[in-house]
Amino acid sequence: MAQKTILDLRRMKDEGEKITVLTAYDYPFARLMDAEGIDVILVGDSVGSVVSGYDTTLPVTMDEMLYHTRAVVRGASGALVVADMPFMSYQADIIEARRNAGRLIKEGGAQAVKLEGGMNMAETIRALVDIDIPVVGHIGLTPQSIHRMGGYKVQGRQEQQAERLLADARAVEQAGACAVVLEAIPASLAGKITAELAIPTIGIGAGPDCDGQVLVIHDILGLCEKYSPKFVKQYADAATLIRGAVRDYIDEVKKGAFPTEKHSFK
Ligand code: KIV
Repeated sequence: MAQKTILDLRRMKDEGEKITVLTAYDYPFARLMDAEGIDVILVGDSVGSVVSGYDTTLPVTMDEMLYHTRAVVRGASGALVVADMPFMSYQADIIEARRNAGRLIKEGGAQAVKLEGGMNMAETIRALVDIDIPVVGHIGLTPQSIHRMGGYKVQGRQEQQAERLLADARAVEQAGACAVVLEAIPASLAGKITAELAIPTIGIGAGPDCDGQVLVIHDILGLCEKYSPKFVKQYADAATLIRGAVRDYIDEVKKGAFPTEKHSFK
């Protein structure tokens, strides 16, 4: 199967085929979801929260994103790989944004980058697209803006906020983005944005009318035991599975039931 490209995303929108996106941060997860036919793998800066144990995504560095992107790329042969630009890798100036986005493509092996922001990031998106780096936008609840938003809150509920988000979506499209993530916004607003834009919208907590959906892999597997947002659907209880396996291993080693002859060399 040929590897998906950004052209496939646009075609899928045009043909009404939903786009499936999951996050991955390492080779084994990427390989498994790629084999099952996921369309896009996002190396999200959510790695900071779900893998590194930080409270926010803000501490994630370029080096960390490069490390995780390379691992995911090695496991993905069919899915399009999109790498998140971490906080302060693109906000300070456009030259730095170009260098860092370029590193995620050249050293990381991703086919596109994602960055957060709407009208305020239009110039940066344009600067990356102009040097042939495909960009996925991200508006609504943007976790890198946690301190401005005062928490992880649904965005765009008030009319003025909704108008601003619509303008953000238009700006991201006009700047040349190939798709846009809509996070934690009312379903009706996401539907309106999806109907108006020619580029695909990928929803997370944005209702059923987006062109595609994204979730964090650790959330759908039940591995984030501290907190689960309303928009998450858990498809498996991997935490219980892991706990059980670890308990069994501890018991067997303590009892001398493992290793046996079967696991030993002559
Ligand atoms: O970092 C991430 O995982 C994301 C998705 C939740 C959209 O940005």
